[in-house]
Amino acid sequence: MNSDRGSFGSQLGVILASAGSAVGLGNIWRFPTEVGRGGGAAFILIYLCFIFLLAMPVMLSEFIIGRSARSNAFGAFQKLSPGKPWIAVGVMGVLGGFLVLSFYSVVAGWTLHYTLQSALGQLQGQEGIDFGEAFKTFVSDPWQPIIYLALFLLLTHFVVARGIQQGIERYSKLMMPLLLGIIVFLMAFSLTMPGASDGIRFLLQPDLSKVTPEVVLGAMGQAFFSLSVGLGCLVTYSSYFSKETRLVKSAMNVCIIDTMVAVLSGFIIFPTVFSVGIAPDAGPGLVFITLPNVFLLTFSKMPVVGYVFALLFYVLLLLAALTSSISMHEICTAFISEHFGKSRRWAATVVTVICLFLGSFCSLSFGPWQDVTLFGRGFFDLFDFTVTNFLMPLGGLLMTLFVGWWLDRKLVEQQLTNDGRIPIRMMRPLLFLIRWVAPTGILIIFLNEIWALKLLLGT
Ligand code: PFF
Repeated sequence: MNSDRGSFGSQLGVILASAGSAVGLGNIWRFPTEVGRGGGAAFILIYLCFIFLLAMPVMLSEFIIGRSARSNAFGAFQKLSPGKPWIAVGVMGVLGGFLVLSFYSVVAGWTLHYTLQSALGQLQGQEGIDFGEAFKTFVSDPWQPIIYLALFLLLTHFVVARGIQQGIERYSKLMMPLLLGIIVFLMAFSLTMPGASDGIRFLLQPDLSKVTPEVVLGAMGQAFFSLSVGLGCLVTYSSYFSKETRLVKSAMNVCIIDTMVAVLSGFIIFPTVFSVGIAPDAGPGLVFITLPNVFLLTFSKMPVVGYVFALLFYVLLLLAALTSSISMHEICTAFISEHFGKSRRWAATVVTVICLFLGSFCSLSFGPWQDVTLFGRGFFDLFDFTVTNFLMPLGGLLMTLFVGWWLDRKLVEQQLTNDGRIPIRMMRPLLFLIRWVAPTGILIIFLNEIWALKLLLGT
């Protein structure tokens, strides 16, 4: 066994690092957007079912694979089933890690830009500014977003290069409590805004007419993306868990924290948006166009509150992005370092450089390369689509099949019970979820998706 691989030093570190991976732009930026489109509470209910019935079993499977192999996402399959095609799941995961970090860092770079702008008071104090236009001008600039992308990747690099305990665990322990504190503060504030009740009603009242098959697919993609499952990110993290880490408890904690943050973000965004009378389904521009308008309006009435609200919101988004990007980076860094026998620093540098390169492609697809498409999509869209709608569900499906049907049942039970030291009352239902419910559910939705895609493309 590799004794110099590093490991998490405490159970709190395990939970905060894994929850840090899960809580990200997916919760604060993507989730409210999808809720806005998918009929409020109706979407949330479907989403919750997918979290606990499909994504949580995938998370547990990743934990079982990672801790029993104690290797990176690729090496784990090589170790657990040498010479078998399961290795393809590891390849997909590492590839997915590069793709997801590349497009994710572009949006994180925008967040960094908005954080700095709000710190300088430039978002809040500009009467008459058209934020839609300002956002478009910024993202279509050939250089600026790439500079922010590079800065964000450097921040991520800095943490990953320092290793598991000194880097990932230490910074997760610092950033996650801060993040959770800011969320609670912002929510308390936004709930007191005049007219906030309309936003709350929107969140809590299901509009079933908006639930289409597409919305159901979107909910599954969102559940997987939000919990970071299907790419082997949690295989990698759990390879640093100790013998004492309780897998089921950790998975439940991460699912609960992640869902709480997503729903709380909804309670920050919708009451505020409704209080100034803006349509809730404003799409991905929600946090970069709609919210600056809200901040501006608040600022014009209460300058200090408007300033603090805007700044804290973008700091929150930035922290969330960073704790997640670290975990994506780690999938690739651990692979390169272990597979090619290189130092962590060397491997991390290679990953940062590759992602800067790929991320620049994504960034340019909002500007000068708007018309450059591959399979009918710009680079950003293509990377996002490939990872969220394809690699994550497929990876998740294969990992539950691997653990449920291929891995030795004894090994699986040993992992779940820490070698029989902790009793698991829910063993049977959990195994049933891993063996039957999750794979069948994912498969049905996945096949449906391919079928819907064919219809869409008219083939
Ligand atoms: N879970 C992260 C979010 O919600 O923003 C995104 C993510 C992290 C996806 C890590 C994939 C991954 F491997």
